[in-house]
Amino acid sequence: MTSPLVVSEGLSKTFRSRKGLVHAATDVSFTCHAGEIFGLLGPNGAGKTTTLRMLSTILTPTSGRASVAGFDVATQPESVRENIGFLATETGLYDRFTARETIRFFGRINDLPDGQINTRTDEIFDALDMMSLADRRVGTFSTGEKQKLSLARSILHDPPVLILDEPTFGLDVMSARTVVRTIELFRQQGRTILLSTHIMRIAEKLCDRIGILFKGRLHAIGSVDELRAQFGGEDLEEAFFSAVGSGAPANEEFRRSNPPVRS
Ligand SMILES: Nc1ncnc2c1ncn2[C@@H]1O[C@H](COP(=O)(O)OP(=O)(O)O)[C@@H](O)[C@H]1O
Ligand SMILES: [Mg+2]
Repeated sequence: MTSPLVVSEGLSKTFRSRKGLVHAATDVSFTCHAGEIFGLLGPNGAGKTTTLRMLSTILTPTSGRASVAGFDVATQPESVRENIGFLATETGLYDRFTARETIRFFGRINDLPDGQINTRTDEIFDALDMMSLADRRVGTFSTGEKQKLSLARSILHDPPVLILDEPTFGLDVMSARTVVRTIELFRQQGRTILLSTHIMRIAEKLCDRIGILFKGRLHAIGSVDELRAQFGGEDLEEAFFSAVGSGAPANEEFRRSNPPVRS
C-alpha cells in the first residue's frame, strides 16, 4: 500500500465577516491515495474552494493539519507548491498571448529554464492534442479551449499531485467531456488528482472516490457504489441527499446543475 498523497486532518477555516464568523470548513478529514481521482462534491458555499486553497497553501487553516506529497502545508509550503499543479476557478489567462506564450510566461514566473519550458510545452501540447492551438491567441479560444490551456499550464512542472477547483465550471457538455478526458489522461500519467465539483454527473463519471461536503463538513466518503450501498438510492444524487440528512436544503443552483437523470 503506497502512502496517501494528500492527507487532510481536521482542517478548519473560519472567516470573520461583517455578519460575524463564517465556518467555511469544519473538521475536514480525508486522504487521497496515489494515482486516484478524489472528488469533493457539494453545492455552492459548501467549502470546496476553501478546503482546496488550504491544501494548496494559499490559505492558512484556522486549525487542523494537512500534508501533500509528504510535505506539511503549514511548515513546508514551498515543497508542497513544487509538488502540486493548481487550477483555480478564475483562469487568469491573457487574451493577447498565444497558448505557447502563456505557458512560457508562467514557466518563467516559476523559474523554470527556457529550454525545459520549450521541451515540456511540446510534450504537453502533443499529449493533450492541442498543437493546433499552440500559436493562436488565447482571445480567440472557446471557453473549453481556455480550460484545456489552464490544465496544460497546471502540469508544466510535472507535479505528482493536481488540485483542480471545479474543472468543468461553466463548460458546455462537449467541452466538459474534453476536460474529463484530459483529467483521465493525467491519472494515466500516474498523477494523483483532488478536484471539486458541484455536478453529480462529473463526480460519478470521473472520481474513484467522493467526499460529500455540505455546509463546511464532510458527511461521507466512498466510491459511488459504496455511497449508494451505504445510503441507499439508485444513484449518487439520492445517496448525496440521504448522506447530508433528510430535507437537506440544497440550494436552487445545486439542483439546477444536477437535474435528475434516469438512465
Ligand atoms: N474570504 C472570505 N471571507 C468570508 N467568507 C468567506 C470567504 N471565502 C469564503 N467564504 C464563505 O465560506 C463559505 C464556503 O465558501 P467556498 O469555500 O467558496 O465554497 P464552495 O467553493 O464550495 O462554493 C461560503 O459561505 C463563503 O461565503
Ligand atoms: Mg468554489
